[in-house]
Amino acid sequence: MTTAKHLNDKVVLHNGVAMPWLGLGVFKVEDGSVVVNSVKDAIKNGYRSIDTAAIYDNETGVGQGIREAMAEYGVAREDLFITSKVWNADLGYELTLAAFETSLKKLGLDYLDLYLIHWPVVGKYKEAWRALETLYKQGRVKAIGVSNFHVHHLQDLMKDAEIVPMVDQVEYHPLLAQNDLRAFTRENNIQLEAWSPLMQGGLLDHPVLTEIAGRHGKSVAQVILRWDLQNGVVTIPKSIKEARIIENGSVFDFELSSDEIAQIDALNEDKRVGPDPDNFDF
Ligand SMILES: NC(=O)c1ccc[n+]([C@@H]2O[C@H](COP(=O)([O-])OP(=O)(O)OC[C@H]3O[C@@H](n4cnc5c(N)ncnc54)[C@H](OP(=O)(O)O)[C@@H]3O)[C@@H](O)[C@H]2O)c1
Repeated sequence: MTTAKHLNDKVVLHNGVAMPWLGLGVFKVEDGSVVVNSVKDAIKNGYRSIDTAAIYDNETGVGQGIREAMAEYGVAREDLFITSKVWNADLGYELTLAAFETSLKKLGLDYLDLYLIHWPVVGKYKEAWRALETLYKQGRVKAIGVSNFHVHHLQDLMKDAEIVPMVDQVEYHPLLAQNDLRAFTRENNIQLEAWSPLMQGGLLDHPVLTEIAGRHGKSVAQVILRWDLQNGVVTIPKSIKEARIIENGSVFDFELSSDEIAQIDALNEDKRVGPDPDNFDF
């Protein structure tokens, strides 16, 4: 469980790099002014971590938002934590190195804080991982990790890897508690990170969560994000609305009881809103 008390409190990854417990996601956020403003609103309101990916096609706007926010709100690059991900079509040693350069160029940055393999394409992720190891050793990226890796993908990768992934970013919310993966990542010092933590908005009128939220004078979204943190999971809710960006970041001033955590843990149905990493075709 985290003892984080502020929006910019961090967890230390196994290589010593500090990663904010909470960041902004920008999946499906349109490039241009929408993503620029989301990133700026987040940084203005204390967020320091932004999660994008090559496939989101908004790295250019994310980069612009970062530059404008740094200038307008006096934030230094080293205080930000920027994540991007290599897409499936670019998995391969040379292809992945090239994809990294393209992402950096679009973002207008000279390093990334975290670079992830987006999906575990069988037969391809090991070569891509070698490229991430190279980038890491060259200091082009502060930490490297994976996304959508089940336990068996991690075990397979780690058989040949020189560097154990620092992060695994997966779908995680009260209906998909990822119990096996949570245990495995904890044992192996891999930080679990939640995507679609709010189940893309699908849990906001859940009766159990609504009752807990009422008890704390918080919203259901805030209760879910707090559950992530108390379970030791980094979280990256997406919103393009400033009021919700503020709301989602205001989860450091209350605590769920162990009974409430258990009540939310018990909602698990192993239910996904996204594809199963063992069965995707893109
Ligand atoms: N690695 C992967 O394969 C992968 C896959 C999916 C997502 N991700 C990452 O994870 C991030 C988060 O996941 P997500 O974007 O799929 O979904 P999410 O964060 O679970 O939910 C976002 C949805 O909830 C709404 N919302 C946000 N805050 C709210 C609040 N306080 N009250 C009510 N509604 C709220 C948003 O609408 P508004 O924007 O209109 O507020 C949006 O429709 C992504 O943006 C992306 O960075 C990664």
